[in-house]
Amino acid sequence: MSLPTHSQERVRGEGMMFAVLLLAENRVPENLSMFDPVSPPAESIKSLSFLMLAITGAIFVIVEAILIYAIYRFRHGPPKGTGEPAQVYGSTPIEIAWTAAPALIVFVMMLVIARTLWEVKVDPNKPPKDSQPVRVTVIGHQWWWEYRYENISGEKCGFIAANELHVPASNFSIASERRPVYLSLQSAVVCHSYWVPRLAGKTDLIPGRTNHMWFETGMTGLYLGQCAEFCGTQHAKMLLRVYVDTPDDFARWVENQKKDAVADPAVKEGRNLFLSQSCASCHQIRGTSAVGTYAPDLTHLMSRQTIASGIVPNTRENLRAWLIDPEKMKPGCRMPAFGLSEEKLDLILNYLETLR
Ligand code: CUA
Repeated sequence: MSLPTHSQERVRGEGMMFAVLLLAENRVPENLSMFDPVSPPAESIKSLSFLMLAITGAIFVIVEAILIYAIYRFRHGPPKGTGEPAQVYGSTPIEIAWTAAPALIVFVMMLVIARTLWEVKVDPNKPPKDSQPVRVTVIGHQWWWEYRYENISGEKCGFIAANELHVPASNFSIASERRPVYLSLQSAVVCHSYWVPRLAGKTDLIPGRTNHMWFETGMTGLYLGQCAEFCGTQHAKMLLRVYVDTPDDFARWVENQKKDAVADPAVKEGRNLFLSQSCASCHQIRGTSAVGTYAPDLTHLMSRQTIASGIVPNTRENLRAWLIDPEKMKPGCRMPAFGLSEEKLDLILNYLETLR
């Protein structure tokens, strides 16, 4: 399919504006470095990669040093008048040495990798004693993330959010204030991969099975990630945003997400329009007749900072541009353009803006 260049340019422009906006707020969300971990699984992975780098680096340096020395030392070739050097066939001690040494190195690497795998793969059914685990089912769609909050601190929930995952910060020093996050990863259609480098390693989302991953951090803030498995046209724009809130902020956020959408009489017209259009067959707005599950749940759309899977800030202008022609912002996306009049657009936007 053809990707019109002007729309790519536009999205690039908007992306840059977004980055500037975030910088102005003095945040550094561009940090996607696995070398700056804030959660135990990411720590383990960082330590492992440093160790691997050290071992393979040492081997590289030793081999290169011997090679360079040999090239330099024997650069003039054999002295004039000498014949062919002595030909040696086989040497048992050398054979044993160069078999045993790599085998030993590989064995040590295997042990450390096994330990790291053990640390990263924690049984979701055995959270730390007295802790308050947060359990969320993540479903990868083309091309957005669905978050079904299943259980928070032993209490069943069941609300659905999209594209922006909120979790509480942990207090590692008090057992009852630890809040590990367990994600069950599933996919609607094709494979994706969940990767927020500062929180945990990547884990694939595979249709027809459930994978698990976990993380836990004491550092509040926004952690960015990226779908790490090619999943189609918009793979590169299937962005991940994890907000680690203070426990109080998180509790407030959950309280709000649990509520149905408020039926504000001032935007009745817009609501009716939304419900009469085919919006309602793909999107869900709890408390209305819109119960679609094919597209993101919009019950609390305005509580999100971005739209279209994290690619642009959630502003009226961007929402309008998105409604006019989603294809321009996200070529290949599943949302169609409805060709609404300016007047109808405004009515729907007025309604959407009440979904806080
Ligand atoms: Cu989803 Cu790549």
